[in-house]
Amino acid sequence: MLKISLAFLSMIRTVANWKLNGSRTFCKQWFKDFTSHFSGDLSSIAVAPPAIYIPLCTELSAHQINICAQNLDSLDGEARTGEISLEMLQDLNCNLSIIGHSERRHLFGETSNMIRDKLLKAAKPDFNAIYCIGENLADYEAKLSFEAITEQLNSELLSLSKNINLFVAYEPIWAIGSGKLPSKNEIELMHLHIKDLLLQHKHINLLGIFYGGSVTEHNCIELSQSDAIDGFLVGGASLSGKSFAKIASSFT
Ligand code: 13P
Repeated sequence: MLKISLAFLSMIRTVANWKLNGSRTFCKQWFKDFTSHFSGDLSSIAVAPPAIYIPLCTELSAHQINICAQNLDSLDGEARTGEISLEMLQDLNCNLSIIGHSERRHLFGETSNMIRDKLLKAAKPDFNAIYCIGENLADYEAKLSFEAITEQLNSELLSLSKNINLFVAYEPIWAIGSGKLPSKNEIELMHLHIKDLLLQHKHINLLGIFYGGSVTEHNCIELSQSDAIDGFLVGGASLSGKSFAKIASSFT
């Protein structure tokens, strides 16, 4: 079976987060639709299905598209009903996981300490995280976005001392599923801020900074032209293989 290498993963540009959507029929149709509308490099794509469909999606992608988990637990082999460990993901040749998505934080009570533990777990040479951060609407409106993001990074990532490979996904909470986005300039400034902070830490192997939150086939063109935006993490618009192919094509 093909082992995903780091060089392969560092080229990822567009990630589909299906959240709690999918079925075997959906997966089969999605890969058909996506591959018939996308002519770019398949290694620049990652798909995060619900964990139960990871093996099917790996098979349907013919090992050419990166398959990503939506979450992982910081432990393995404990009494933790319903959780999935990094070891289990790697057993399925899945070496990539979203960590710290705002839905995990707000709907499932994941705290900064829990996310820090998950990042610590993911800090392995052969594993890669897509670490999500974002400010809430109150902080955005009070012009405190930079402070909120700095605080998140300080408490969850920057104090880790283990080497970690990661993409950062900047996903303002108020932009997720709302149809509202920060301006291109606001996104660029935030990405540069994140990059500046992370580059001071030698143990962080920053693979790229993605934007996520209401990305569509209509607004992706302008954003993808920015040097500060390395890729997208897409929710709702990723559920159509055809729409997601259009978004992914904006980087080709
Ligand atoms: P939407 O693209 O639906 O706004 O979701 C973004 C997101 O949460 C991706 O992880």
